[in-house]
Amino acid sequence: MVTALFDLTGQVALVVGAAAGGLGERAATALAAAGATVAVADVPARTDDLATTAAAASASVHEVDVTDEAAVGALVEGVIARHGRLDVVVNAAGIMLRKAYDETTVEEFERVVRVNLTGCWLVGREAGKALTRQGTGGRIVNLTTVYAERVGPVPESAYYASKAGVVNVTRSLASELGRHGVTVNCLAPGVFYPTQMTAALGADPERLRWFGERTMLGRLGDPDADFAGPLLLLASPASSYMTGQVVYVDGGWSAW
Ligand SMILES: NC(=O)c1ccc[n+]([C@@H]2O[C@H](COP(=O)([O-])OP(=O)(O)OC[C@H]3O[C@@H](n4cnc5c(N)ncnc54)[C@H](O)[C@@H]3O)[C@@H](O)[C@H]2O)c1
Repeated sequence: MVTALFDLTGQVALVVGAAAGGLGERAATALAAAGATVAVADVPARTDDLATTAAAASASVHEVDVTDEAAVGALVEGVIARHGRLDVVVNAAGIMLRKAYDETTVEEFERVVRVNLTGCWLVGREAGKALTRQGTGGRIVNLTTVYAERVGPVPESAYYASKAGVVNVTRSLASELGRHGVTVNCLAPGVFYPTQMTAALGADPERLRWFGERTMLGRLGDPDADFAGPLLLLASPASSYMTGQVVYVDGGWSAW
């Protein structure tokens, strides 16, 4: 009974932003371990790293740039054409821009918003249409951040703005898709180290230590140990009555 709640046998899961080294890779391998047939996608520039994830998760490989409307639609339809159905979509695609507000150009700001926010909405829109058409419900899991509803001391105005937007995209899609049995939630990770996005923190051990000590558990998030459980919760029947929620996976950071 308990393991059945997390069993994804017979389901098809798509993970966007799944190149090796990141949380998307961990999502793909966790979903495969839970029994799902997995499809992974990332930008063409990460083809080799995506192949590494695909090998670990026995997944099919798909290229996508989430800022490209036609490509996102083609991705969702391509996965359904390949695997026959779609049940779970995890959107882990994202970029970070660490820059003071007065040094950030409009182009840079809009690029971050385009990937993190518009891309999230677009993946949700295309997945939502496909899941509604299929008529068997489904799960969409987005990635925001511990800073979803606050900001941190490091200047990242475009990132903070885009990830706050992810929260209300999640709630909005949850509201519109709920009657179709599709749940939409987001995970809000604290600092998970190392991933491609956080690897640069290694050059600043003081800041890395501060991030760890800032949590109630007194440590950073471990991508291998701390991410799969919450992800599987939101991707599986275990969360059948959860939707529109922000689930913090941050060692207690946001509770202080
Ligand atoms: N690692 C952390 O501490 C942390 C904390 C909070 C939130 N997050 C969020 O989790 C998600 C995964 O982050 P990560 O740490 O694994 O970083 P990561 O850089 O390893 O993963 C992000 C992935 O998105 C892909 N991507 C970037 N632009 C894309 C585009 N236009 N189209 C498709 N794919 C694109 C990248 O190639 C990469 O594989 C991100 O949304 C990030 O904001 C991470």
